[in-house]
Amino acid sequence: KEIRTYKIASIPGDGIGPEVVNVTIDVLKSLQDILGTYKLDFTELDWGTARYKKTGKYMPADGLDTLKTFDAGLFGAVGAPDVPDHISLWELLLAMRGPLQLYANVRPVKNFPNVPSLLKDVQDGDIDWVLVRENSEGEYCGQGGRTHRGTPWEIATEVSVFTHVGVERIMRFAFEIARSRPRKLLTVVTKSNAMRHGMVLWDEVAAEVAKDFPDVKWDKMLVDAMTVRMAAKPKSLDTIVGTNLHMDILSDLAAALAGSIGIAASSNLDPTRKNPSIFEPVHGSAFDITGKGVANPVATLWCASEMLAWIGEKEAAAILLQAVEDICSQGICTPDLGGNVGTIEFGQAVVQAIEKTV
Ligand code: NAI
Ligand code: MG
Repeated sequence: KEIRTYKIASIPGDGIGPEVVNVTIDVLKSLQDILGTYKLDFTELDWGTARYKKTGKYMPADGLDTLKTFDAGLFGAVGAPDVPDHISLWELLLAMRGPLQLYANVRPVKNFPNVPSLLKDVQDGDIDWVLVRENSEGEYCGQGGRTHRGTPWEIATEVSVFTHVGVERIMRFAFEIARSRPRKLLTVVTKSNAMRHGMVLWDEVAAEVAKDFPDVKWDKMLVDAMTVRMAAKPKSLDTIVGTNLHMDILSDLAAALAGSIGIAASSNLDPTRKNPSIFEPVHGSAFDITGKGVANPVATLWCASEMLAWIGEKEAAAILLQAVEDICSQGICTPDLGGNVGTIEFGQAVVQAIEKTV
């Protein structure tokens, strides 16, 4: 019998990154052994702050070419207390997202049974959203500059860039996701009242693309009002699309409303599939809990499930996510969710749950 094989790059990175990635790889290996129909062939890449301190570079010069030889990547986190965050972010994370054109960042959010939400009166399933973030341009395109440095009249600009191509492709992607979900509901987040160029183009393209999706119900929300709607009427939302900056912020809010930043997963996708997509938890390197063995691995396990689905192993993806949900709903969880199990123990519980279901 032929076993399907996929080449996966693992980039554990900094802080709790290695803790959550290693547990996730252990779970993935158990899952594939149990199912016996496919195999993930992992290669670990040492990209991160330790490498930067030794060599001056977060990733090697041919890093992108290396990545392109893989079917997908599993990334932990980057960032260290003694390196400015704009350096670590731009040299590693944004250095992959932009050049590989991983233009769609997808962040599923739901409240798992028995995981306390920040919101009062939230029933299981009330929060069930997919957040789609434009991941290649907008406010994070790196355009701008500083002049008259160090003087009181110093100028700094941070230019947002919105291209028709860039907006159209993310809108199409978001409408497709909305269409694939039972409620067929999309909310387009904007700020076209105050930002009268890029955000107006954003709105116009959304309306254009919507014509090709008559079966999808869509509405538009200003980003400020959107924060209120997420908190006050979570059930009124399903798929949400927004710019790089807006969804950066809203997705942290979404994760917190659903339970914890420790459960929020994200996929950096190249929907054209020319390049490997990269899967990473929303959270960062969490210095405050690094090395304590208490980091919540749910976000990374959920990423792994998204990764399996993306490469075509949908059955394995569903089994993994269900096992994670089942374990959480039994009240087995890390301290950020009010529990008392550690990262490794949680992983072991997930493997046991998988063994029981398969
Ligand atoms: P953070 O996400 O690392 O931590 C925020 C808070 O959430 C901390 O109290 C932390 O303990 C908690 N937390 C995060 N993940 C958790 C998990 N899995 N389980 C339990 N608790 C968890 O964000 P922060 O503190 O703003 O940034 C720390 C560093 O991480 C910075 O250098 C920052 O630039 C970097 N960062 C990197 C990201 C990435 O690699 N994608 C994303 C966000 C931040
Ligand atoms: Mg963020």
